[in-house]
Amino acid sequence: MSRMIFVSNRLPVTVKINKKEVTYEKSIGGLATGLKSFHEQADALWVGWPGFASDRMKRSQLDQIESSLLDDYHCFPVYLSEKDVTLYYEGFSNRTIWPLFHYFSNLTEYDNTNWQRYKKVNLEFYHKLEPFIEEDSVIWIHDYQLMLLPELIKNNHPTVKIGFFLHIPFPSSEIFRLLVWKEEILKGILGADLIGFHTYDYVRHFLSSVRRILNVNHNFYKLLYNHRHIEIDAFPMGIDYQYFSTHQVDNPIIINPQEKMILSVDRLDYTKGIIERIKAFKAFLDKYPKYIGKVRLNLIVAPSRQSLPFYDQLRSEIEILVSQINGSYNNRDWMPIWYYFKSFSQDELIAYYKAADILLVTPLRDGMNLIAKEYVAARTDYLATLILSETAGAASELSEAIIINPNDEIQIANAIKNALEMSKKEKMQRNKIMHERIQRYNVNFWAKEFIQRLDKIQFETQIKLPVEALVNKDELIKQFDASQKRIFFLDYDGTLSEFKKHQCKLHLIVH
Ligand code: UDP
Ligand code: G6P
Repeated sequence: MSRMIFVSNRLPVTVKINKKEVTYEKSIGGLATGLKSFHEQADALWVGWPGFASDRMKRSQLDQIESSLLDDYHCFPVYLSEKDVTLYYEGFSNRTIWPLFHYFSNLTEYDNTNWQRYKKVNLEFYHKLEPFIEEDSVIWIHDYQLMLLPELIKNNHPTVKIGFFLHIPFPSSEIFRLLVWKEEILKGILGADLIGFHTYDYVRHFLSSVRRILNVNHNFYKLLYNHRHIEIDAFPMGIDYQYFSTHQVDNPIIINPQEKMILSVDRLDYTKGIIERIKAFKAFLDKYPKYIGKVRLNLIVAPSRQSLPFYDQLRSEIEILVSQINGSYNNRDWMPIWYYFKSFSQDELIAYYKAADILLVTPLRDGMNLIAKEYVAARTDYLATLILSETAGAASELSEAIIINPNDEIQIANAIKNALEMSKKEKMQRNKIMHERIQRYNVNFWAKEFIQRLDKIQFETQIKLPVEALVNKDELIKQFDASQKRIFFLDYDGTLSEFKKHQCKLHLIVH
């Protein structure tokens, strides 16, 4: 196969610049952590942003970082200026698309300056990619920060195979239509030959937006657009099951055997339902006081996007709520919420996964949520108890979890009680099914399935003739304009006429 190129805004490695010291750290977030394990085995270059504003850096320093990223990580950096970070990354990506696609239309900002910069940075990504593109390259673009990139590449390199995968939800068309630049965004994505989403719901939402906004209909998840065939499908992202199920942790977590531990792990984000989760834990203590002193919540919040006001505000709200609950419920030997505001390595997270009696995952909206899958995979004793929000993409695959509505405090409180009291037999039955699924549909399965489909589509595109090429379009339009009454019969082989090889007829009856 020809050389693969992955493109995403965030690289799997984040470069931190502290005075003169440059350090390389693993990025967090599902896109980076999930795709990284596949990238390590594939002969692929990963192009993206290393996470710092480059304005004040010397050219020589940037060149040095570029060669380290290339040599040590097979990554190629796209440097962003402070203004790019403010307008494209924090602005359009995280103040417009992120809230809107997660159904937070009240937090969505429509700012033309941010949009102009989003277009500019997508174009810069294209220019950075250009020297690496060969006519038989396979380019796999990831996520909402780069939705214009597929079209930019396709316009200049029509034979290049382009895949696009969205790691966040695609919202209902009623929400998507609120976006001021909706047509441009859809056309940008449709530059890809294969478009993937985590769930069939997101696929349906995308296809209805394309139909309503661009007036293009699909046929069994296939579109004919600008004389090109495009496929859209669901590819639920998996995890590196092998790693999470076999990894031996450096420092296991030991907790008091009389106490049960509920674990919660997220990036700091208002979509994750962290406030609602803490309130539900309080409701659980209030409704079932016999558990006071016996159950604790370990709340891990990894810092994320803190330069954005909603994120910083959320951090303060979490901290106030945690201290109120700890202040009212703790006693000499017990503290209800153990709160950590820092990011953990995956080795440390696995230690927590292995010790937790329950994982509480209650996002208000989440594209997938890999943490839910990692927890189940790490529990090779089959004793995981997962409480999972119905609005996380992972809920479509993990129906053996205790599924809850993240807005329903009382339902979550009852779910915690049921999880604590669930029999070992029932836990094992539920876990066994989830393990088999997570093991089979792991991250390699996900990536390979997507790439193989992409390869196949290109081949089909070459042998199929677009319907429009088979009709005399000018004559058709002339007759159509002249007619008073119009009926179209699309003569599909075998329905209105006999089967014919490579032919599709269009009858126009004009009265
Ligand atoms: N993660 C991590 N350290 C942390 C918190 C999270 O390495 O302190 C990783 C976690 O293991 C998972 C990813 O970040 O692989 C989070 O992915 P998820 O799909 O759950 O949510 P996202 O952050 O993409 O919204
Ligand atoms: C989610 C998004 C990713 C993003 C990650 C971390 O997983 O789908 O595209 O990289 O969050 O967010 P950040 O803004 O730090 O890249």
